[in-house]
Amino acid sequence: MDNITIRIASNNDISIILGLLYDLGRPKPQKDSDVEIFRKLVTKYVRDSDKTILVAELEGMKIIGMVSVMYLSRLNRSTLEMYIPELIVLEKYQNKGMGKKLINSCIVLAKKKKCHRIRLESGNQRKNSHQFYKSLGFEQSAISFTKNLD
Ligand SMILES: CC(C)(COP(=O)(O)OP(=O)(O)OC[C@H]1O[C@@H](n2cnc3c(N)ncnc32)[C@H](O)[C@@H]1OP(=O)(O)O)[C@@H](O)C(=O)NCCC(=O)NCCS
Repeated sequence: MDNITIRIASNNDISIILGLLYDLGRPKPQKDSDVEIFRKLVTKYVRDSDKTILVAELEGMKIIGMVSVMYLSRLNRSTLEMYIPELIVLEKYQNKGMGKKLINSCIVLAKKKKCHRIRLESGNQRKNSHQFYKSLGFEQSAISFTKNLD
């Protein structure tokens, strides 16, 4: 697909970004007040200088994928680490090179910021994503532990 632009998200994209996050299986609003809270969180993410959301736009009209990134400092590193919390391509547009385009744009950003690496987590159940990341040169380098406090 050639008619794709990868660009930095703006406030106008927030509703679509929220929709993509729900597609990724992230929690949906449980009550009306949650909708506003989620919107504010995405707005802040778009605004913060240590975070970025990139969107993949088809024919300048339809957003078909997104990736969120944050820049983290480590105590034993003089350079930043890029962390990718979310990456999603709409199902209809998967396996057409869109995820790769988004990750390649992250690599460009990470190099601009002189990051020493890119890191992300992917749920155990997401076997296809693991293959996707490996095909892009990512190595499985850690086991992730979570303790839910809800
Ligand atoms: C994972 C995801 C982002 C990948 O995006 P995509 O647009 O479908 O992937 P692409 O078409 O860009 O694939 C890029 C490369 O990965 C390879 N790849 C993708 N899935 C693969 C699989 N299951 N097995 C082997 N290789 C795979 C492709 O063959 C392609 O390689 P090539 O460049 O040599 O042809 C997308 O499928 C998605 O949104 N999935 C649901 C949400 C999700 O799991 N997100 C990740 C959360 S951690």
